[in-house]
Amino acid sequence: MSELRKVLGVLGYPITHSLSPLMHSRAIHALGLNYLYLPFEVLPDQLGSAVYGLRALGFRGASVTIPHKEQVMQYLDEIDDDAQLIGAVNTIRVEEGKLQGFNTDGYGFLTSLKEEMGEIPEGKRILLLGAGGAARSLAVHLALAKAKEITIVNRTPSRGEQLASHLQDRIGFFSVSSRPLNHAVLKEYLLRVDIVINSTSVGMKGGGEFPFPYHLLSPDHVVCDIVYTPLETELLKRAKEQHARVLPGLGMLINQGSLAFEIWTGKKFPVEVVRDALTAELAHRQA
Ligand code: ATR
Repeated sequence: MSELRKVLGVLGYPITHSLSPLMHSRAIHALGLNYLYLPFEVLPDQLGSAVYGLRALGFRGASVTIPHKEQVMQYLDEIDDDAQLIGAVNTIRVEEGKLQGFNTDGYGFLTSLKEEMGEIPEGKRILLLGAGGAARSLAVHLALAKAKEITIVNRTPSRGEQLASHLQDRIGFFSVSSRPLNHAVLKEYLLRVDIVINSTSVGMKGGGEFPFPYHLLSPDHVVCDIVYTPLETELLKRAKEQHARVLPGLGMLINQGSLAFEIWTGKKFPVEVVRDALTAELAHRQA
């Protein structure tokens, strides 16, 4: 009898626009693996049932996305150190009946920063826009990677304060401060940072705008956006005009997926095949 297909999926709400099914299905196909990856729309009040369902139905694992990354932790049996420090899980593996949680977002970002820009956070002054779930995984990894200084700017100042306290209390990283997101603050900090990272949803279609003094960007800045729809956000476009070096969000998406794929399958992710497929899909969506 042939071996049962191993099933993977992504749990989120809403889920229709997720690129994860395309990304992982391409990788599975390219490597000829006996796996299947599907999207699942899971309402917040069904999250526990859905997670236990992964185990009951013999799934190999799942990706976890908005808005479930924090809430999902309570249903898992084991959570790795990284995810524990971040306080969020984006990858579940079912191993001998145990639900294990991981977080590959911070790794995805740092890998993209290193491979595409040749940059590491060590010794760098960083301006982090946003203090949500994505910001949290980036901030923790930037702190662990010995950034010199992290300034968090967020529209809701209390959330920025919380993230700054998290870095201090959980990681012992004290070169962190939090400021409100406004023109004056951005103006003040742009003059003294090396790397600017947008981890908010601003830049996505309908995602609002920044009070951003784009003219202060310079060739000395590295400007990163975790938004990947569109591939080139307004921030990146304006940064390029100022001759800053820019890092689009697609690389982070691919690298976080790459580590998750290895966690489930033990196989190396076919990065180039996946990058081509996603670039084509995003160009198609934009057209
Ligand atoms: P994610 O998990 O993708 O980070 P999130 O936790 O909802 O999602 O966080 C979204 C981030 O984008 C937050 O930092 C949010 O700012 P608030 O904490 O003030 O809500 C930020 N954000 C969303 N829309 C924004 C806008 N129009 N202007 C500025 N910041 C915005």
